[in-house]
Amino acid sequence: MSERCVLKVLDLFCGCGGLSLGLEQAGFDIELGIDIWQDALTTFKANHIDSETHCQDLSEVNFDEVSNRYLPTGVDLIVGGPPCQGFSISGKRDPDDPRNKLYTAFLKAVDHFKPKAFIMENVPNLASMNQGKIRDTIVKEFESIGYTVSHRNLLASDFGVPQNRRRFIMVGLLGGDQFDFPSPTHMKNKISCEQAISDLVESSIMDGAKYPLESQSLYQAEMRVGSSGVFNHETTKHTEKTVSIISLVPDGGNYKALPDSLKGIRNVNIAWTRYNSQKPSLTIDTGHRHHFHYKFNRVPTVRESARLQSFPDKFVFLCSKTSQYKQVGNAVPPILGRVLGEQLKKHL
Ligand SMILES: C[S@@+](CC[C@H](N)C(=O)[O-])C[C@H]1O[C@@H](n2cnc3c(N)ncnc32)[C@H](O)[C@@H]1O
Repeated sequence: MSERCVLKVLDLFCGCGGLSLGLEQAGFDIELGIDIWQDALTTFKANHIDSETHCQDLSEVNFDEVSNRYLPTGVDLIVGGPPCQGFSISGKRDPDDPRNKLYTAFLKAVDHFKPKAFIMENVPNLASMNQGKIRDTIVKEFESIGYTVSHRNLLASDFGVPQNRRRFIMVGLLGGDQFDFPSPTHMKNKISCEQAISDLVESSIMDGAKYPLESQSLYQAEMRVGSSGVFNHETTKHTEKTVSIISLVPDGGNYKALPDSLKGIRNVNIAWTRYNSQKPSLTIDTGHRHHFHYKFNRVPTVRESARLQSFPDKFVFLCSKTSQYKQVGNAVPPILGRVLGEQLKKHL
């Protein structure tokens, strides 16, 4: 008999669906993704063909309508990362503050559907903002609607993602159980940038073309599973000046390697940083062009960034290149989503 799990998921602020992909890999069914950004939903739909998408500002979504239209039999899990800006210095939430609307939408959705569990992800400093008062207010609000809430800051590279990305994860379980967070699996054997992307070459590859090199690591072989070729590997053409400056920075180095005359040429300290080939990458951003390939004199391509975020190669990003970088940089690493999903299934 099939052991396929049919736990149904509603993904709010779903983006291109990094978190959804991880949950799908863990055996969940992604029923619906909601986001205000059509580009992200276009990619979401192309890669989650059995899921529905709904494009709307979540502060205006009517969950009765969503329920009738897409989710008549309810959902088992709600996930998402609402921006939490509407908290005052005291850590109290002002329900009338318009900045609160997005977090309120998440709370409302959980209250409406009463799923067995929710996962809320956010920036790591949410845990410590206002001496933890914001976090405590959020916990109390979910407790008041019946959830037992557990939270932790997780480092993606501890779980096999080749990236030192930290996220604050809050998990609520309907009823009395505390969520048992997964234990790190890769504390001593982190996946490095080289292990993640050394099979992707210096120059652009036409979408769908064959891999120019054999895979060079187990991680690369795993990322290639189910992929018909290379997509989203179009390199950025930098100015000659940029190329000549970044060529002075060694593997793993930064602006400190530059002569004094060049140090202040970009106004931020993270500029002119090269990934370290032997370590996980820094946090993948939304395309700021400050972090360079560990070996080539260019920023990573969308595909290289996606690999560092643990997106498999069969997951193809659509719309403009700028939009693709933003979609990748916004995402929760799928491997982190998978690990959380696998752990959650033990509770459900
Ligand atoms: C951090 S990203 C989500 C990433 C996603 N969880 C993933 O793993 O790929 C946040 C998303 O919230 C969406 N968003 C921001 N404001 C919104 C709003 N008012 N209504 C709906 N979605 C919104 C953005 O378009 C963005 O895609």
